[in-house]
Amino acid sequence: MSTPDSKYSQTFSALGVSTADQVPPLFADLRSRFDSEAGSATNENSWKALRDAWLGRKSGVLTLVTDNWLKPSPPELKRVVGASLNELRSHVDAQIEARRLSIEAGAEAAATAKERVDLSLPGVHRPIGSHHLIRQVFQEIEDIFFSIGFSVVEGPEIETPYYNFEALNIPEHHPVRDDMDTFYLDLPKGAPGPLLLRTHTSPVQIHTMEKRQPPVRVIVPGKVYRRDNPDATHSFAFHQIEGLAVDSDITFCDFTGTIDYFVQQFFGEGVKTRFRPSYFPFTEPSVEFDASCVFCGGTGTATAGSTCGKCKGAGWIELFGAGMVDPAVYGFVNYDPKKVSGFAFGIGIDRLAMLKYGIDDIQVFFQNDVRFLRQFP
Ligand code: FA5
Repeated sequence: MSTPDSKYSQTFSALGVSTADQVPPLFADLRSRFDSEAGSATNENSWKALRDAWLGRKSGVLTLVTDNWLKPSPPELKRVVGASLNELRSHVDAQIEARRLSIEAGAEAAATAKERVDLSLPGVHRPIGSHHLIRQVFQEIEDIFFSIGFSVVEGPEIETPYYNFEALNIPEHHPVRDDMDTFYLDLPKGAPGPLLLRTHTSPVQIHTMEKRQPPVRVIVPGKVYRRDNPDATHSFAFHQIEGLAVDSDITFCDFTGTIDYFVQQFFGEGVKTRFRPSYFPFTEPSVEFDASCVFCGGTGTATAGSTCGKCKGAGWIELFGAGMVDPAVYGFVNYDPKKVSGFAFGIGIDRLAMLKYGIDDIQVFFQNDVRFLRQFP
């Protein structure tokens, strides 16, 4: 950068300049110094330094040339010095402006290049998940029951013993409670309780009948909890779908006909159903439904002639429990047992899905292993 000890800091007499022909080389020298300094002004900071060094009001090169060369020069040199100075000033002004424009344009181009969106690049691929197999089976069952006039209701997973047991005709010391011992919540001292995780979806029968008058036709999908040790067919959290139909004239035939229809829709037309006596405190009579084995066609024999491994040769597979609603239950919801009748069932979804899709370990439903989940897109 130009410095004050340069020639323009001295007067012509100090430099020994006394004739007009000595002036142009001095300006040519200055111009080439400027051009070389301008060449290295490539960013905003160096451009500002160049501008201040050459055009600064107090000590810029052109101010010093004016003060040291033009003003004190004798009249015979003034014209040539003035003309050369004007020419140099125009050159410096034009070059400094040109550099400013080019630095600004360069910065803009760099910023644009940085921000430019390349539309030809492939988009970001975000894989879309799919419904879990349990949700798919819920949907399948819901669709079948929708088609015969049922609707879906849901209920709380945290229950009082009244809804989970008592209102379902399971009093405090009933032995069936032993099978359904469950998770009770630790509640703060003084909080109303006890509360427990529901052991089945049946409490929603009571919630529904408390709120609605017959006719009632509902199914209740949901999660339930039992203190069962995990193995291939048991989980401590699993899924059920409850069904309840209550009206003034529902018969046992309506009941078995509905289940038959559901089983054939779910497993296929040729599948038969049968029922066996069973026991639930909230249904009377109670039954257990079986379906003819979907793997061996109910023959009990596998294709190779050996015993069918799925039904163990019985030709039948256990499906779920059900029954006609026990009149005692109507007493808890203020229905008149002389005027209404109905049926209820409770399907374990996980085991039903295992049966239909040939899955031999219930735990895979809860492990979130994508290798399993991807098989049911
Ligand atoms: C009940 O829970 C009754 N509430 C069903 C019912 C409803 C009967 C309405 C009559 C009228 P059960 O305890 O059998 O029944 O359970 C129903 C189904 O849940 C079983 O058939 C089985 O498929 C499933 N299940 C039971 N325990 C487990 C478990 N630990 N893990 C996975 N599935 C289970």
